[in-house]
Amino acid sequence: MKGIILAGGSATRLYPLSKAISKQIMPVYDKPMIYYPLSTLMLAGIRQVLVISTPRDLPVFRELLGDGHELGMQFSYIIQEQPNGLAQAFVLGADFLAGEAACLILGDNLFYGQGFSAALRRARTAAEDGACIFGYYVKDPRAYGVVELGEDNRVLGIEEKPDKPKSNYAVPGLYFYDATVCQKAASLQPSARGEYEITDLNRLYLAEGRLHVELFGRGFAWLDTGNCDSLLEASNFVATIQNRQGFRVSCIEEIAWRKGWITAAQLYRLGQQLGKTDYGRYLMELAEKKL
Ligand code: G1P
Repeated sequence: MKGIILAGGSATRLYPLSKAISKQIMPVYDKPMIYYPLSTLMLAGIRQVLVISTPRDLPVFRELLGDGHELGMQFSYIIQEQPNGLAQAFVLGADFLAGEAACLILGDNLFYGQGFSAALRRARTAAEDGACIFGYYVKDPRAYGVVELGEDNRVLGIEEKPDKPKSNYAVPGLYFYDATVCQKAASLQPSARGEYEITDLNRLYLAEGRLHVELFGRGFAWLDTGNCDSLLEASNFVATIQNRQGFRVSCIEEIAWRKGWITAAQLYRLGQQLGKTDYGRYLMELAEKKL
């Protein structure tokens, strides 16, 4: 399975912050936002990742992340000329996927909580038969895709930003698909708002009876970074956990090492490269097994 991070869009709700730089490069406490979705793909065991972004922003992501070898991974990059919708990731990413199954994550989605790796494993397995999305209970789901559930959490329907949601389960920006995803994405028509909707792609799987859902419980955090308040809240959330535990949230270098993709010596060098920062020291201490 390969991964795609969609880090495009113009993020107008964050103006003037995002007028000249990508939202997904902005800090969430101590690291660039894109580290969070990247860490999710890594926890799902995915080592080949395509980053999709705008002509303006793609060079910055390339400079930040490189070709991935320092993490024992492979990163590829491709431009999305216009923000034409999430499902377009599978048209742009068809050559990269080369017929493999895929996990798509949005560059501004942050997940944190116990049992996450197990949930990712279940979703990955479920998507061997079609697709697997997630559901997360929110007070007001109207700004999201909303999934309607029947008995045994069977998916009955899915709607994009409904005025009258049929449930409180919002669909986070994390999707697992089988190898038919590119073919399905290529058959989509733009929606009323002119976008190739991920919800329409998911509906194609639903029509085949092959759209599965994994629910996150209320002890799990799915955070949004769409406006200044939610951006600050996400930073505070990460700082609270990290300062309490001493472990870093979504630390891509740590995950690469714990997965066995890089050695302790490589981890130590990555720490050294960050100079005299707490982040750098953290990596070096992990490598020396002080943590
Ligand atoms: C997109 C999807 C929506 C999903 C959301 C998650 O919305 O269209 O279904 O719930 O991401 O972040 P957008 O970011 O386009 O508003």
